Amino acid sequence: MPDNSSNVQQVTGIRETISDVEEELIIGRTEETQEIVATLCESITPENKTTILPIYGIGGIGKTTLAQLVFNDSRFTGYSRVWIHVSQNLDLNKIGNSIISQLSDESHVTSKQIISKKVKELFAGKKILIVLDDMWETNPRTLKELKAMLRPVVSSMVAVIVTTRDEAIAREICRAAEPYKLDTLTDKLCWKIIKQQTAFKDRSDKQQLKRVGKEIAAKCGGVALAAQSLGYTLKGKTSDEWESVRDNYIWNLSTSADPSSIDHEVLASLLLSYSRMPDWLKLCFSYCAVFPKGHNIAKHYLIHQWIALGFIEPSKMFDTMQLCEKYVTQLLGMSFLEYSKTFLVLILTQHTVAKKYYYKTK
Ligand SMILES: Nc1ncnc2c1ncn2[C@@H]1O[C@H](COP(=O)(O)OP(=O)(O)O)[C@@H](O)[C@H]1O
Ligand SMILES: [Mg+2]
Repeated sequence: MPDNSSNVQQVTGIRETISDVEEELIIGRTEETQEIVATLCESITPENKTTILPIYGIGGIGKTTLAQLVFNDSRFTGYSRVWIHVSQNLDLNKIGNSIISQLSDESHVTSKQIISKKVKELFAGKKILIVLDDMWETNPRTLKELKAMLRPVVSSMVAVIVTTRDEAIAREICRAAEPYKLDTLTDKLCWKIIKQQTAFKDRSDKQQLKRVGKEIAAKCGGVALAAQSLGYTLKGKTSDEWESVRDNYIWNLSTSADPSSIDHEVLASLLLSYSRMPDWLKLCFSYCAVFPKGHNIAKHYLIHQWIALGFIEPSKMFDTMQLCEKYVTQLLGMSFLEYSKTFLVLILTQHTVAKKYYYKTK
């Protein structure tokens, strides 16, 4: 495999998430948002100045989205708010600096001691809401240090939301209270997501598609990401194609140790999205497996690689660059790539799927 390290932007914010959310595109989750906002507001009082609420659940279920909804809730308008994408490597200095830069004009502080002092100064007299999104850290000592950094000073109140896939991390970060387990969406809500993604209301064959669509939704296992990705795949497709997605053999493949698990459903739905891609798009996507897992990929670099490798068939309608832009948009639509607005880079979210096919398509 080629060494891409010099060509790939090495930015620490891997799968960077941000606090912005297009609320009108979010289906359901109103009750969950209200419940979390209420729990946070009730538990934070002048007597109890700090509260940590971990939210856990499997990947793609909507933890980040829920945290965004809470973060933007009107009841937190009086709070100073900080959004931190933690990801796989928890770096206390990075978290401290992120707090400092979001609460003040100051940018980079290097000494740990000064970071800690500065954070406390910035907390003083304020009500703070901090989201630590996508935590993977398991080391109790590091988690303890993190909590020490977030401890409020005399005149402040600090509410912290932590999202994680791992229940054990959720329990470790806050031993005092029960963490919030985010449940899967109902099949009905997954169907709503698919309808939204496919612009279902504008279709003339609604009656014909409804039953098949609902059956496909039920196969998403209540995972928003699966519904979103499949919905994108089904957009503009005929009812025959919808049926063939529903009846596809991939649903029955044993892709995980326990084929009845939700992980299986998610992977199957993503593999299905993959299997419906045109060949050239499959090639472009599976090529992304050459980048190390979680790496931030500079878009222009990826595009030039596709072109140099001859993946892009010339077309009469679009020039090569336009085609490449279209492919990137399609991969983003299926949630196979994510776009980090902060760093203008692409992140391959479905590394396992890409790798699975990399050697086959070459
Ligand atoms: N309730 C929802 N309605 C519509 N789309 C959703 C919903 N929840 C999540 N999504 C979408 O599904 C994808 C995965 O959600 P995300 O919050 O990133 O999951 P997680 O953080 O649990 O991995 C995102 O693209 C998000 O926009
Ligand atoms: Mg997330």
